[in-house]
Amino acid sequence: MLKLFGLIGCPVHHSLSPLMHNDAFQSLHIDAHYHAFHVEPHMLKEAVEGLKALQCAGFNVTIPHKTAVMEYMDELDETAKQMGAVNTVVNENGKWVGYNTDGEGFVRALCEQMNIELSGARILIIGAGGAARGIYFSLLKHRVAAVDVCNRTVKKAEAFVVKQSSVYSLEEAEERVGEYDIIINTTSVGMYPHVDATPLSLRHVKKDTIVSDIIYNPLMTKWLQEAKEKGARVQNGVGMFVYQGALAFEKWTGIFPNTKRMEQLVIQQLGGKTC
Ligand code: ATR
Repeated sequence: MLKLFGLIGCPVHHSLSPLMHNDAFQSLHIDAHYHAFHVEPHMLKEAVEGLKALQCAGFNVTIPHKTAVMEYMDELDETAKQMGAVNTVVNENGKWVGYNTDGEGFVRALCEQMNIELSGARILIIGAGGAARGIYFSLLKHRVAAVDVCNRTVKKAEAFVVKQSSVYSLEEAEERVGEYDIIINTTSVGMYPHVDATPLSLRHVKKDTIVSDIIYNPLMTKWLQEAKEKGARVQNGVGMFVYQGALAFEKWTGIFPNTKRMEQLVIQQLGGKTC
């Protein structure tokens, strides 16, 4: 019997998840379909209950429902609890179990696409929203030397970091950029249509530092372009998008899909070349 999977968000019409997941189902000969459902915030409860009534096998959750959906879960895994957000839901014997694959998706993309190990790395995260929190706690699971956080609103970063991390204002962090091996932008600064904005000056960046932006529209942000000109190794947000999806797919089917194929499809759809 055909299994139904989906995405709930508002808006969802530009989402590349249906394309990516349906292609993976097809190429693996899995009888399943993934559909993007536009769900207004006031209809979230009904939507989650409706999907259960329809025996939906699992779904992704995107903006603005990632936190609000938690109260409609039957169970939450530890990572989702720690992050205060759910992006992947699995129907486990009629129970909705909420997970979060965003942070681990970022870390897997970073290690596999940039061909690095994280042990001993000094890492700076820019931003203190949901994406920053997920990436931060996933990085802490590895033997990194430091994960520090900087944000426009310093208090928001102070609210979630553990004591071995330092928190900086953006101005303070700009002076310390040269101390890091990996710098990650988790803010929306530089995203279409505000493509001329950059989150942090990279004038002190060391050559060969890894500079990663979770934005994938545009594929090459102005910030990544500046980093590249300084001799940094750069990564855009396609990797995180693909790997969070691949990890969700694995939770639903038990199969880790071909991420290269997913990545090519997404880049083709976005009309560009990766960096
Ligand atoms: P998400 O959950 O997707 O990560 P979010 O919770 O809205 O999104 O967080 C957005 C992040 O981008 C925050 O760190 C925010 O900084 P503040 O905490 O000071 O609001 C950051 N951000 C957004 N616009 C910004 C801007 N113009 N300049 C600097 N930081 C910005």
